[in-house]
Amino acid sequence: MRRPKISVIGAGNVGASCAFWIAVKELGDVVLIDIPEAADKTAGKALDLAQCGPVHRFDCRITGGSDYDAAAGSDVVIITAGIPRKPGMSRDDLIATNVKIVGSVSKKIAEVAPEAVLIIVSNPLDAMVYTAWKQSGFPTQRVVGQAGCLDIARYRTFIAMELDCSVEDISALLMGGHGDDMVPLPRYTSVAGIPVSQLIPEARLNEIIDRAKVGGGELVKLMGTSAYYAPAAGSVDMAEAIVRDKRRIFPCAAYCDKEYGVGGYFVGVPCMLGANGVEKVIEVELDATERKQFDTSVSHVKELVELAQKNMG
Ligand code: NAI
Ligand code: 2OP
Repeated sequence: MRRPKISVIGAGNVGASCAFWIAVKELGDVVLIDIPEAADKTAGKALDLAQCGPVHRFDCRITGGSDYDAAAGSDVVIITAGIPRKPGMSRDDLIATNVKIVGSVSKKIAEVAPEAVLIIVSNPLDAMVYTAWKQSGFPTQRVVGQAGCLDIARYRTFIAMELDCSVEDISALLMGGHGDDMVPLPRYTSVAGIPVSQLIPEARLNEIIDRAKVGGGELVKLMGTSAYYAPAAGSVDMAEAIVRDKRRIFPCAAYCDKEYGVGGYFVGVPCMLGANGVEKVIEVELDATERKQFDTSVSHVKELVELAQKNMG
């Protein structure tokens, strides 16, 4: 039986961490691709990762370089290529550079892996998913962005820290764009089935929500660059759902037209991921306050997409 092939474009902090998790979970063979100037370094990272195999006991082939032919026939391609933010920068400051990088990478992938599902990670996320969709020419179902898996992991981590309980028991939902106006939804947050509102007072929960919303910035300040372990973990969870056809439900940046009345943009919504990519966008009921917050976040995504379109040329 043929093993799934997962290519990771951009072998920097997030990309290399993705490759590591894919291998440890034995999801398939891994191809790491970066720019030609980094071809040796990328080959070296792949070899170093392959040498974890005997220790972690995974059997998968891991290769690295700059030749897109190596990605031919990939089942899933994770795009992390681009610049990350530095202290003082917002995700939006990256747009002019990353739109060109993500656009060119997506075109090359469309040539060699026309049946792949694309998972976009590069920022500003929602506009980069749109760019990848436009430049690859792929159907909307096979283009999806990673943001919600990370944002919700931060939110769940902070709730578990507050309650001193297992993160495994925290279930939550978060919607909107991958910006500081993302929308964690306490009404859809529970701890082993118990509504979170019964366990954490509203004022404290709001502080936790605010921390989750700016969780990316907190890490940029601490590390001088953006986060990578948790972003990679979220991206690989999505890849696993696709290659193993798990039909898991995650908050992802998925194409919404009539859904939530978005009108043709990729925004964070609960969706089911399986072998075909986004199998389904799930529409949940939002009250007036939640709806207003979601609409504000979506309007920011639309502004970013307009900017991306200008930079796409
Ligand atoms: P990094 O700088 O460590 O790695 C980026 C890699 O992309 C570098 O190795 C670079 O050489 C490569 N690259 C640049 N142009 C390329 C091209 N044309 N083709 C192939 N590779 C190319 O950055 P890091 O930390 O890995 O972040 C990558 C991107 O992911 C950034 O845009 C960052 O903002 C974003 N990000 C998104 C998250 C999310 O939740 N959606 C979370 C964390 C990071
Ligand atoms: C994050 O939220 C930088 O988008 C990235 O950590």
